[in-house]
Amino acid sequence: MQILIIGGFGYIGSQLLESLAAHETYRNYDIVVVDNWSYGRGMAPLQALFESRLPHFRSFCLDFSEPGDDTFRDLVRTSDFIINVASLTQVPSTNLHEKYIIDGVRTLTGLLTAEGSGRLRKVIDISSTSIYGPVRTRMPEVAPPYSEQVYPDPAIALHNYAASKLIAEKIWQSEHCRGLPFTVFRLSTVFGYAVGMRYNQFVNQFLVDAAAGRRTVLPGSPDNIRPFVHIRDTAELMLHLLDHKPETNGEILNIGAARLNPRLGDLFERLAALLRNEFGLKPDYGFAAELGLPTLEESYQVDFTKFETLVKFPLRHDFESGARELVTRVLGRA
Ligand SMILES: NC(=O)c1ccc[n+]([C@@H]2O[C@H](COP(=O)([O-])OP(=O)(O)OC[C@H]3O[C@@H](n4cnc5c(N)ncnc54)[C@H](O)[C@@H]3O)[C@@H](O)[C@H]2O)c1
Repeated sequence: MQILIIGGFGYIGSQLLESLAAHETYRNYDIVVVDNWSYGRGMAPLQALFESRLPHFRSFCLDFSEPGDDTFRDLVRTSDFIINVASLTQVPSTNLHEKYIIDGVRTLTGLLTAEGSGRLRKVIDISSTSIYGPVRTRMPEVAPPYSEQVYPDPAIALHNYAASKLIAEKIWQSEHCRGLPFTVFRLSTVFGYAVGMRYNQFVNQFLVDAAAGRRTVLPGSPDNIRPFVHIRDTAELMLHLLDHKPETNGEILNIGAARLNPRLGDLFERLAALLRNEFGLKPDYGFAAELGLPTLEESYQVDFTKFETLVKFPLRHDFESGARELVTRVLGRA
């Protein structure tokens, strides 16, 4: 059995590899990472780490959006499970999103349909709840919480990252892909410690800055409402879907929980209190809109009913447990 992880040396990919290494069955599968090493120096230590932790691990430095790559074609043909977590998430607007997200999914689905998918048991692709960004202001007739039926026109997306995710979703839903065992996650913003952690996003950035004694300027304003999900819940959910729940095939799912979809002002007050009370830290932060700085205001309350009823996978981690673990690691008290 072979599991192919595209973009496997990123934040979510690194936790997926950790979770696979801890899994009684999957750890013995052939695990293959394809990653174009977009972020350079962080990648080599991950490669060495998982070569030592997983008995049958291989990795290839290549750009999966390039059609005609023989190595990638062979890996797709021989994989039982494929998880695509490739994107340039550090950059909200770059024309590389069209190449890496849209062309990437075109190349992957093209190979899956051309080569036949006899061996393929599951493919998971990741969209984002940021596709809901323009709904509040540009589609005021749609009442929150937003379900998967809401599909904003990519032309009104807040950035070309979200526009590219919306177009990629349409490719999966096209006639061409009918019958493929795919599930697309509209994933909430991820937080929490992982060996390949990203720092440049909301919760992680706030926690790391506070531990380092730095001020954080958070995007948007305190009244914005945003959904989050813990990194380990994200990775374990992906593994759970690999050999379970064929009823999720062909589906797009909002991934998160109502209790993890707070008003940002309330969330950061809670986290700041935890850092003060439990770690003696003095978090210093402000929201860009309040400070008069240019910022994108994204605010959306998401409906997770379909995920909860179809998958019934408990999201075990909350903001407090995730924050405690991350700050303990950063402060070296683990
Ligand atoms: N982290 C989040 O909060 C979040 C939320 C919603 C959706 N997502 C989506 O989940 C996926 C993973 O997110 P992440 O936080 O791990 O991102 P990340 O930026 O940490 O990792 C992405 C990885 O993909 C690789 N990559 C990029 N383009 C590639 C290409 N053309 N070929 C091969 N490899 C390529 C990069 O080198 C990197 O290692 C992305 O699709 C992202 O859009 C993430």
